[in-house]
Amino acid sequence: MQAEALLLERNSHPRLTGEVPGQDVLEFIYQAALRAPDHGNLRPWRFIEFTGQGRERLGELFCQALLADKPDAEEAMQKKRKMMPLRAPMVIAAIAKVTPDHPKVPAVEQVISAGAAAQNIILAAHAKGLGAMWRTGDVAFDPVVSKGLGLAEDDQIVGFIYLGEIEGRCKPVPEHNTEDYVERWS
Ligand SMILES: Cc1cc2nc3c(=O)[nH]c(=O)nc-3n(C[C@H](O)[C@H](O)[C@H](O)COP(=O)(O)O)c2cc1C
Repeated sequence: MQAEALLLERNSHPRLTGEVPGQDVLEFIYQAALRAPDHGNLRPWRFIEFTGQGRERLGELFCQALLADKPDAEEAMQKKRKMMPLRAPMVIAAIAKVTPDHPKVPAVEQVISAGAAAQNIILAAHAKGLGAMWRTGDVAFDPVVSKGLGLAEDDQIVGFIYLGEIEGRCKPVPEHNTEDYVERWS
């Protein structure tokens, strides 16, 4: 795929199916992630892959987070939480490994850098003909989830990237007027 088309035509795919991407494809995806811009060469990112029953364990964790907050949550809500990671054959948690109080690189820059890595994941997936969807929701900011994933106190989940084969039709890419977003000083 041409780089220009990739940048302009990528879109998100909530409905994902099929097999877990092959190792070659995943290696390409991770190498793309590792090319994200990175102030201070901190490499402020980690990725956790969830496939097969690993997705069910993640769903259990999402449910535990719900129950910690709402112990009498209805069965349907609990089930919904458990099913969330099953929306795709694979989920990658993109995590900002934040070095707090760094003398040159504030925490926000480290989180942005991890976000850029997440963006590279979805672009790389698109380049390989796969669909991807970046999700966060309450679970990305929940201490029960962070602890369950083994995150350090300053780490931040920047996204759960759902990956798989595209199911159904692609939604059209919206048109945006550049002039609505750009101010020029010349
Ligand atoms: C940090 C971040 C978190 C997001 N979290 C969610 C989410 O939890 N649920 C959701 O439906 N979309 C979420 N989105 C938006 C989708 O990933 C997607 O960008 C949006 O549906 C627009 O589709 P498009 O990427 O094809 O333009 C998130 C996007 C970002 C950047």
